[in-house]
Amino acid sequence: MTPAHPTCIVTGSASGIGAATVLALARAGYHTFGLDLNAEGAERVALQAGLEHAGTRHAHAHCDVADEAAVVAAFVRAAEFLGPLDALVTSAGVVDTTPFMDITVAQFRRIHEVNVIGTWLCMREAARHMQPGGRICAIASIAGLRGGGLSGTAAYAASKGGVIALAKNAARVLAAQGIRVNTLSPGATDTPMIATPLSDPMHRARIEGLAAQKRIGRAEEIASGVVYLLSPAASFTHGANLVVDGGIVMP
Ligand SMILES: NC(=O)c1ccc[n+]([C@@H]2O[C@H](COP(=O)([O-])OP(=O)(O)OC[C@H]3O[C@@H](n4cnc5c(N)ncnc54)[C@H](O)[C@@H]3O)[C@@H](O)[C@H]2O)c1
Repeated sequence: MTPAHPTCIVTGSASGIGAATVLALARAGYHTFGLDLNAEGAERVALQAGLEHAGTRHAHAHCDVADEAAVVAAFVRAAEFLGPLDALVTSAGVVDTTPFMDITVAQFRRIHEVNVIGTWLCMREAARHMQPGGRICAIASIAGLRGGGLSGTAAYAASKGGVIALAKNAARVLAAQGIRVNTLSPGATDTPMIATPLSDPMHRARIEGLAAQKRIGRAEEIASGVVYLLSPAASFTHGANLVVDGGIVMP
């Protein structure tokens, strides 16, 4: 039986897709705990979720998801606040738009530290705290399927391909613990992450033109897919990658 207030940790909760996910989960009755480097933004989103959805509780911790000690400590704090952990959404991520020939090794490493190692660390800690019935949704990107070609370049595309493979491995391994794992791969979505590239009208028109719907998505449209993947309605969806992109990839 689903508890009246299931619990979820959301990384990257201060902004964009992570923030929209906190609000959508609150609407669905979840208590949430956000992890983000932007403590002020995470605080604002937690307050908004509690105000808009009476009876749900929301808190956050300042945390770099690439920092193992910080992630371990944040999951302990989250467990104190939430009690038993039902779900994890990994939305913390960074993009890089440096051209292929100009990316430095330090940039390539940092993108992978946050997007791949950060996702894995949070999955590992979630699996330590979850009971059977737990579920995980990792936010990847269609860049991981297409090899980039939107705003992010090589390091970003490689990292998101890594997230998709990582989540499939977690889906295999954590099934034994009764934990469901899936990824959601958004297409171009109107968030602060791609505000700078999208401020160029030519770039924006090119990206819009790639989608059958000829538009950029809204963070709320991604969050509703996440809520579905965590819900009992998706009970047999396991190791899948839900593409939510207005019709770019159509895998
Ligand atoms: N916006 C898009 O078009 C798009 C498309 C495909 C995939 N995505 C993915 O969706 C996810 C959310 O992106 P968004 O568009 O909401 O971006 P965003 O920049 O609005 O939000 C990302 C959040 O992650 C946080 N963050 C970054 N590095 C962190 C770290 N090391 N530790 C903790 N928190 C950290 C940021 O502070 C921010 O609050 C990312 O994984 C991104 O790659 C976005």
